[in-house]
Amino acid sequence: MQKSFINIGKLYQVRAEGTNLLRGAIMADVPFLENAWMTVKDGLIEDFGKMEDFAPSENKETVDVKGCIITPTFVDSHTHLVFAQDRDEEFVMKIKGMDYQSIAQAGGGILNSAKKLQETPLEVLVERASARLNEAIKAGTGAIEIKSGYGLTTAAELKMLKVIAHLKQDFKIPIKATFLGAHAFPTEDKERYMQTIIQEMLPEIFSNQLADYIDCFCEKGYYSVDQMRTILEAGQKFDLKPKVHVNQFNAIGGIENAIEFGALSVDHLEVLPDEEITLLKDSDTLPVALPGCSFYLNIPFAPGRKMIDNGLPLVLASDFNPGSAPSFNMSTINSLACIRMKLLPQEAFNATTFNAAFALELENEVGSITKGKRANFIIGKKDKTLNSISYNFGVNWIDKVYLNGEEF
Ligand code: NIG
Ligand code: FE
Repeated sequence: MQKSFINIGKLYQVRAEGTNLLRGAIMADVPFLENAWMTVKDGLIEDFGKMEDFAPSENKETVDVKGCIITPTFVDSHTHLVFAQDRDEEFVMKIKGMDYQSIAQAGGGILNSAKKLQETPLEVLVERASARLNEAIKAGTGAIEIKSGYGLTTAAELKMLKVIAHLKQDFKIPIKATFLGAHAFPTEDKERYMQTIIQEMLPEIFSNQLADYIDCFCEKGYYSVDQMRTILEAGQKFDLKPKVHVNQFNAIGGIENAIEFGALSVDHLEVLPDEEITLLKDSDTLPVALPGCSFYLNIPFAPGRKMIDNGLPLVLASDFNPGSAPSFNMSTINSLACIRMKLLPQEAFNATTFNAAFALELENEVGSITKGKRANFIIGKKDKTLNSISYNFGVNWIDKVYLNGEEF
């Protein structure tokens, strides 16, 4: 099916095929075409140009967008979208003064989610996760990563990854699955649980091809650097590249070690000493900041401004999960990055689209308006601009979302 979109006020994030990851100062630029057209064919972006050069074609359906903006959909490279239930009771505990760690010690936290997930059948999890993903797409997400890590038994971790496999089948967007068995310790016997991950979970995941990446929550009270190394080394044997949780509350050496293991990304980074910015600069590992988590937990924001000023290729993601970031709204992530990290709207937008695609190895498929990429894009409401995405915090600027050239 061929379609032409005409009278596009501004067509944003127009980039040539093969454009590199954006680092430092160039992140402040989002290239656009004013008064533009774009054609899509077989689900892909076929071509685009300025209206003055538009040649109407009889065999194409025409959509007149009447001066509205078009942007690529967001790429959300870090979520925990599969879970059994919200943890809104913890929200109230938090308002009354408890912090993340003390809520976990009082029976909340990751173990609380694991208990609920273990008791919930696969079909119910698929239904609930599908409803959330549906809403996330309506909010502009057109490619996503989803982690396990609320199972913490072999059966429940596999169940979670199977839920993600169902979503991969049912939804027409790229989805990457990350195995996060090393999210918390479900028992006092840490060594035994590590062996369960290595000897039971990983071989089973590998033989059923249930994961694309491996993750570990490297943090005081969770997984030490040595434990993370053991997990990542085991992951290597099963061809799983790391994308890890590090430096959320403490800098304990996770970044240096993740880089050594060739991690695709290091995520969180709320606590980021200067030396670790330098380490990241000299590596191929992408820094992913999660401003929704900082906002919700009331903890420091990752130093996004400083990372960009030091030439890093910043990525931003939602971290959508029931305990530390209960929102999948990537426009809100743009707002928080601007307001709390002092990013420019263009920098935040690049960090949630073009750069974010690299954090899922989807840079040839999504993240920009480029010939041959998927026709996954957003049509803005009347009079909205790129700045509106961040500026009008909490306001829906999206009129329509298209996936593979079809309205969602
Ligand atoms: O990325 N920090 C570790 N994991 C999640 C939160 C998990 C939870 O509280 O359920 C995060 O913030
Ligand atoms: Fe997370």
